[in-house]
Amino acid sequence: METMQGFTRSGYCGDYRLEQVGNTLSVCGWVQRRRNLGGLIFVDLRDRSGILQLSFDHTTPADIFEKAAGLHAEYVIAATGMLRERESKNLDLPTGEVELFVTELRLLAKADTPPFEILDDNQVNDMLRLQYRYLDLRRPSMQAMLKTRHKVAKVARDYFDEQGFYEIETPMLTKSTPEGARDYLVPSRVHPGKFYALPQSPQQYKQLLMLAGFDRYMQITRCFRDEDLRADRQPEFTQIDLEMSFVNEDDVMTIQEGFLSRVFRETLGVEVATPFPRMPWREAMDRYGSDKPDTRFGFELCDISDLVKDCGFAVFSSPVAEGGSVRLINLKGHAADFPRKKIDKLTDFVKTYRAKGLAWARLLDGSVTSSYQKFLTDEENAAILARAQAQDGDLILIVGDAKEETVFASLGALRCECAKQLGILDPMDFRFLWVTEFPMFEYSEEENRYVAMHHPFTAPMDEDLDKLESDLKHCRAKAYDIVLNGIELGGGSIRINTPEMQEKMFKILGFTPEQAQAQFGHLINAFKFGAPPHGGLAYGLDRLCMLMAGADSIRDVIAFPKVQNASEPMTACPSFVSQQQLEELALSVTAEGGEEA
Ligand code: AMO
Repeated sequence: METMQGFTRSGYCGDYRLEQVGNTLSVCGWVQRRRNLGGLIFVDLRDRSGILQLSFDHTTPADIFEKAAGLHAEYVIAATGMLRERESKNLDLPTGEVELFVTELRLLAKADTPPFEILDDNQVNDMLRLQYRYLDLRRPSMQAMLKTRHKVAKVARDYFDEQGFYEIETPMLTKSTPEGARDYLVPSRVHPGKFYALPQSPQQYKQLLMLAGFDRYMQITRCFRDEDLRADRQPEFTQIDLEMSFVNEDDVMTIQEGFLSRVFRETLGVEVATPFPRMPWREAMDRYGSDKPDTRFGFELCDISDLVKDCGFAVFSSPVAEGGSVRLINLKGHAADFPRKKIDKLTDFVKTYRAKGLAWARLLDGSVTSSYQKFLTDEENAAILARAQAQDGDLILIVGDAKEETVFASLGALRCECAKQLGILDPMDFRFLWVTEFPMFEYSEEENRYVAMHHPFTAPMDEDLDKLESDLKHCRAKAYDIVLNGIELGGGSIRINTPEMQEKMFKILGFTPEQAQAQFGHLINAFKFGAPPHGGLAYGLDRLCMLMAGADSIRDVIAFPKVQNASEPMTACPSFVSQQQLEELALSVTAEGGEEA
């Protein structure tokens, strides 16, 4: 095999155009394909920038011609030659008007036939792609995704540097604390029986950096959460993490709007208008059934509880009597798009959100058909349609439940599902929204206590301080999420900065003073030494890149992601470790082991 000794690459394959015709160039890359037309050979050479055609003909020295004839897909080569104008141009390719007439050819590495062709429109099984991720990543679309990711990270560093933020690293081996998701634990060899936790986020460290006087901090950092995977969730993911001193919510949000508009401009060439709209959490739930509403389309929720509370139809009246609600969405003008069969599928869909069913009314061709009208009086039916502002051509979908969360979750998801089915979602229409005034607490049925909705370091709203004593349910937090097209891009808050309030918060959350000291003593004690008012936010970098790249899953913007069961198919981790490693860590494994244990 030949080497790079004495060979200097002059540029990337995808960069050459008619202007460089006549130049002698040297390029390197992978063979996309070779075509042998008797006395002519064409090789498409691919590198990260694109494809350049190499050509060989009867004037090519015989040894080089022969070498070219022996090339196969994914062989790695280097070539030098003269750039010339092509006879038959391929205007679909940026370099399609030129070709390199090769005078020197080096074979740098051979390649087995890959398990799939390196093409964008290949319908390759996901598992196979991830098993051979290094080949999957050779595809131009994957190269483009990771390039976008690089640019986003670069703009973040540039922007926040210009705004006076220091990039400071925080530990990866940290203390396990309750609240939040399950931790990934790392056993300590030096302290048998003790464990580090991988950080779920650098939250406490960044607050301590504010206390230490750094004023503005940023970090692009990995976070680890042992939770179920979804399209927008990975067990390890990356945050652009930020914290600022001497600020209020407006200061934090304004800085972020500057960042987001810049990153969209510099990465995608898209102008997004600032300031972004803001919506209190309660309004988001009432109008969209979601704390991360997709505001690219309507189909807003409408409460009809008052209209049906006394009706004779228990499916509507019982939920209201039991403290829940009955709400609807109106798919304006789309009745004809949803025949009965499709409505049945939507019913199955809402059941996955624990709704018991889906009531509906179709207004088509001047008449109304409905799943519920025979159970109601004419007045009640008319009142519902009037409240929904229903007209001919509309489809009304109704969910009632004793649990308001179920009504919100199912209708919130349903409006998005219908929009998806209707194909009305434009991925290049970027609708940012701040959701504000989150509840401070949510009740955990599992734990039978209130837990912090954001995290226990979030400050309550000044207006609601008295509710900490009397009305936890309605106490709002100085917390805000940045939402883009139905996805929570990031979240943050103004923090508590006095030991008294922090201790009080832990007490409300059910910690004894001793437990609070044991778990969070470092923070509570630090607050005794002069903590500036501070606040911040963290973005999910993967989610931001997914939306910017138009990808369906954050997997597509992560070089080596995990799959559904939290394993990584290429290296096949997690894996068993040797008995010796376990003994060094003073660990014994009790779960059923597998073959390699
Ligand atoms: P939060 O838990 O809301 O806040 O996380 C911030 C953002 O991180 C992203 N994110 C994830 N991305 C991929 N996979 C996951 N499993 C995952 N979990 C979260 C989301 C989310 O909005 N310390 C606080 C921030 C703060 O208060 O400053 C925090 O971590 O985009």
